[in-house]
Amino acid sequence: MFEPDHHLVLAPIKGVTNYIFRNALEATFGGADSAIAPYIVTKESGELNQRQLFDVDFTKNQLPTTAQILTKEVSQFLHVAKLYKDMGVKKVNLNMGCPYPMVANRTKGSGLLLHPEKVERLLTEIKEKCPIEFTVKIRLGRECTSEIKKIIPIINDLEINDLTIHARLGKQIYKGSVDINGFEECLPLLRTIPTYNGDIKSVTDFNRLSKRMPQIKKWMIGRAALSNPALLSQIRGEVFNEQTYRSKFIKMHQMMSYEYLNSANAKSDYLQRMREHWLYFKDIFENEHKVYKKIKKAKTIDQFHEVIEWAMDQEISENILN
Ligand SMILES: Cc1cc2nc3c(=O)[nH]c(=O)nc-3n(C[C@H](O)[C@H](O)[C@H](O)COP(=O)(O)O)c2cc1C
Repeated sequence: MFEPDHHLVLAPIKGVTNYIFRNALEATFGGADSAIAPYIVTKESGELNQRQLFDVDFTKNQLPTTAQILTKEVSQFLHVAKLYKDMGVKKVNLNMGCPYPMVANRTKGSGLLLHPEKVERLLTEIKEKCPIEFTVKIRLGRECTSEIKKIIPIINDLEINDLTIHARLGKQIYKGSVDINGFEECLPLLRTIPTYNGDIKSVTDFNRLSKRMPQIKKWMIGRAALSNPALLSQIRGEVFNEQTYRSKFIKMHQMMSYEYLNSANAKSDYLQRMREHWLYFKDIFENEHKVYKKIKKAKTIDQFHEVIEWAMDQEISENILN
């Protein structure tokens, strides 16, 4: 059951949980206490994706949002962290969980977990020099859960107090089940209480996990909050009927459309960005396959808006109403 001292974090999902989504969620269904933004990649040249950089600009964000960096280079991390400080960002997170082979094989993301000596050097220097609060998101390992056991003493020694653990291995990518036993094994070894992340898909999942691990206070939720934007509020005990759900979702969608269409960078790829959201939003509807097929078929903004008008009249899935 949700308790007043529980804290819900919206997970970073690259391409989806940008400030436009985060603000629209906060203004309609609500339910998140904070968010971590999707990662920005650093390069030796210092070149940075400007849209991703400004995604965490303090003035644009309604939710307290931690920035996230994917790198293995201390100097590159610190360079971006300083830019974030100037933008009013309060916290920055190191991504040590990204599972994709192109990333992990280059000793970045979850690839770092195979090299505790590199992790020690990286975290020690960042912790010492980072101009804003430094936080970490990791998995249980890349190949096996014994890997995190070698990382935990480093986290403890450096007093990194904000740690999120996605209870999977890097090699699982995003598939297979989460390893709750593996997560629980970390708890007595850690000096800090971590944020739990992985496969909270419903209020029932949240209630089961929070009952099993009463010491956990922070819970991070990703994909299921994109498929059902009411989930975080439902976990807090809010109840939506078909009518209230529909009107909030229409409002949320209108806010997102408006922001995308009026933002200089996003207008040209409006359809592509909205399709990425609908990969998840389709699950709101009973006939999700038909809805998504029509979304994919819309080739112009007008056609897309026609489909949206039709979709908003479709029956909402019973699974997501409580
Ligand atoms: C398409 C996709 C993109 C993701 N992008 C990021 C990211 O930018 N940074 C990060 O730390 N995790 C990222 N994740 C992982 C999620 O934040 C989260 O750890 C994972 O999905 C498990 O939580 P969930 O089961 O609640 O979705 C991504 C996951 C997916 C499926």
